[in-house]
Amino acid sequence: MVHETWSNRAMFILAAVGSAVGLGNIWRFPYLAGENGGGAFVLVYLACVLGIGLPVLIAELIIGRRGRCSAVASARSVARESGASGGWAIVGWLGILAAVLILSYYSVIGGWLVAYVPITATGTFTGADAAAVSARFGAFLADPWVMTGAHAVFMAITVGLVAQGVRKGIEAAVRVLMPALFLLLVLLVVFAMVEGAFGEALAFLFVPDFSAITFGVVIEAIGQAFFSLSIGMGAMITYGAYLDRDTSIPASALTVAGADTLVAILAGLAIFPIVFAAGLDPSGGPGLLFQSLPFAFGQMPFGALVGTLFFLFSLFAALTSSIALLEIVVSWAEEHRGWPRAQATLIVGAISFVLGLATVLSFNRLSGFAPLGFLPGLEGKTIFDLLDLLTNNIMLPVGGILIALLAGWVMKQSVIAEEYGAGVLRGPWYLMLRYVAPVAIGLVLVFAFIA
Ligand code: TRP
Repeated sequence: MVHETWSNRAMFILAAVGSAVGLGNIWRFPYLAGENGGGAFVLVYLACVLGIGLPVLIAELIIGRRGRCSAVASARSVARESGASGGWAIVGWLGILAAVLILSYYSVIGGWLVAYVPITATGTFTGADAAAVSARFGAFLADPWVMTGAHAVFMAITVGLVAQGVRKGIEAAVRVLMPALFLLLVLLVVFAMVEGAFGEALAFLFVPDFSAITFGVVIEAIGQAFFSLSIGMGAMITYGAYLDRDTSIPASALTVAGADTLVAILAGLAIFPIVFAAGLDPSGGPGLLFQSLPFAFGQMPFGALVGTLFFLFSLFAALTSSIALLEIVVSWAEEHRGWPRAQATLIVGAISFVLGLATVLSFNRLSGFAPLGFLPGLEGKTIFDLLDLLTNNIMLPVGGILIALLAGWVMKQSVIAEEYGAGVLRGPWYLMLRYVAPVAIGLVLVFAFIA
């Protein structure tokens, strides 16, 4: 099945950036940096994006453009083209499983944004001190019904957008919303620079304490690089399938990775000055965004308006990612199961919604429930923590190894050269893909979990 190509090159970039930029940048990157020693994490993260993420992203786009199909069919066809087993389709299957699992909690956190739009708009945070802001978040977490409602709204919007077919929707949304989110983030960074503890934040984020770098930190950084770039699960294979012949794959990958990293750093620069000025704990976990920025909104002029816009734009950024997550599964169900699109969308959305309830409960009723707590290293981990660990720190890195092996060792070098194009740095990229990426990911996985 040959897909149509993007209406033009810029639109491919916008859609790929739209899928990459989301909760990973604004919500997950800051709290992981906070939990894993700040500068140590940021440094390792940047190294992982350059040394592992970028090579794998290029590989996914190459596999997609060569295969011109969904991740499952593209992986199978590029393997067969080079005389290898069609069993490489496993890359796509793993990706579909990861997409369902990630969407289940992505939608719950997306729901937090949904809820925070009206909470902020009604002036809840105007003049509020840090304790009041944290208490408001605590009250939100404690109520599974409100959180489930917000999760339902987020999933319903995602399902609605995907059911209508996404092309026009994504392109229009991303073209307007990405620049808007970017400008608003810059504004927040300026506010944080003037009013927050900017020097302390800079030192925290960019002066690495090398002794804080452990295998645990490195696997978190690898997982975050994969999550944030939307790689390791074949999603970018799907995007590559829409790419036209004369677009440079390495240049596109560099643009996507650059934009993604910039937004994450801006989010960190907006959040941490507030964290330190308000005396919050940088290692406060998944609530960090919702406990820090609303405090700033309460202090700045027009803060209720700025805050509402911030949560709204972040929500749109999350939606351009969630529609891509759902699309991965739906396009597979259409192609391989022959389900009508609307029906496939509803069924997959419903499954992810129900799975998401486990994440909702992980923040309240089941916050003390650690299903695998008897295993060393998993003590106290909630269902949400385990889902996050399984997908981001295990499934995506394993998917990344498989993709690196498929493009680096299985596919013929002539095919790879043709798809990479005349672009510079093909030699170094190929070395990174063949040796550095799979060995580094493999070793870190082994040391972080087994040793
Ligand atoms: N990159 C997205 C974010 O940062 C999350 C994500 C991970 C994703 N894998 C994906 C989005 C696959 C679309 C497709 O929020």
